[in-house]
Amino acid sequence: MPGIRGPSEYSQEPARDPSLKVNAKEPFNAEPTRSALVQTYVTPVNLFYKRNHGPIPIVDHLPSYSVAFTGLLNKPRNLSIKDIRCLPKYNVTATLQCAGNRRTAMSKVLNVRGVGWDVSAIGNAVWGGAKLADVLELLGIPKLSDCTSLGGRHVEFVSVDQCKEENGGPYKASIPLIQATNPEADVLLAYEMNGETLNRDHGFPLRVVVPGVIGARSVKWLDSINLLAEECQGFFMQKDYKMFPPSVNWDNIDWSSRRPQMDFPVQSAICSLEDVQMVKPGKVSIKGYAVSGGGRGIERMDISLDGGKSWVEASRTQKPGKHYISDHHASDKWAWVLFEATIDVSQTTEVVAKAVDSAANVQPENVESIWNLRGVLNTSWHRVLLRLGHSNL
Ligand code: MTE
Repeated sequence: MPGIRGPSEYSQEPARDPSLKVNAKEPFNAEPTRSALVQTYVTPVNLFYKRNHGPIPIVDHLPSYSVAFTGLLNKPRNLSIKDIRCLPKYNVTATLQCAGNRRTAMSKVLNVRGVGWDVSAIGNAVWGGAKLADVLELLGIPKLSDCTSLGGRHVEFVSVDQCKEENGGPYKASIPLIQATNPEADVLLAYEMNGETLNRDHGFPLRVVVPGVIGARSVKWLDSINLLAEECQGFFMQKDYKMFPPSVNWDNIDWSSRRPQMDFPVQSAICSLEDVQMVKPGKVSIKGYAVSGGGRGIERMDISLDGGKSWVEASRTQKPGKHYISDHHASDKWAWVLFEATIDVSQTTEVVAKAVDSAANVQPENVESIWNLRGVLNTSWHRVLLRLGHSNL
């Protein structure tokens, strides 16, 4: 595509915040520290986790840039950023979470392959852009369509970055047409993040944001959008980001036996404390995030100090000063909630956190029961151990 290119090496990477914890430099993957993550409801762009599979694309000439709409649609067309900006703009507050968030804890059971994320491969941003449903309508595909007249049932997003998993080809993924054409699903072609022009790390000039779905489907640096009869056959849809049972290993894996993961399950993590934390006896503040996929709200956030025998409820907030109510029309349905509880500690104590979503889905108790060889979707109860001693907390 004119105007944008995906380099084959890493000499022109953007500058990154020095406080990020770097998991890999080439390609660059990094997350903020736990304590920085939940300081604010909207995650600052510089602290937002960065998950890249290749060198960051370079926009040489923005006026020449456009996205090609091709495949099983009657009016194939190229749309420039100007065309997309002409459509109504929506600001959608949505949490993006890598499917590999909390992978390191899964590796403690038995080693898994993948970037070693702690609990911060997640962030909450206000994404600004056009609804994909409006864009597709402009191209002659009505709202709430599950099939185009030519048989297109899936919308594939193709980037320009060069990924080694794709043998140097671009990153790609797809979502069903019915989701893409549903205005309520809030799928965006985003050109802004937190009110600023999207930066290079997060997809400049244009990315998809698929709220409530694992981050892998929110393709950055869009090159083309294709209407397909079948879902995208790319590596990251077919040979990665799938959920396998604990019995599957690298010798008996059959990738075709599982569907690509889409919605993320209910998740939470304590961010004000490390996994093993020294504290002074007395009051300790427990803060963290909770979120669920598919637009389900967080109904409850439970904290236990006795391994799950008894629980107390934490308070939940989104907007400062406004009490969060799951499924309330004023609550951001695609966004995390921040939770807080204060506990009294007089001895070594394990603190356990679990969230319950609006469909009464609960996080699983043990990581062992959901262990999988790629280390994805670790949503087990989050546990931190408090030891008494010298501490700054
Ligand atoms: N899009 C492209 N083109 N290339 C990528 O490597 N990574 C995906 C997704 N979109 C990726 C991509 C993954 S796995 C995640 S979790 C999110 O982008 C991360 O988005 P972020 O870096 O803006 O946080």
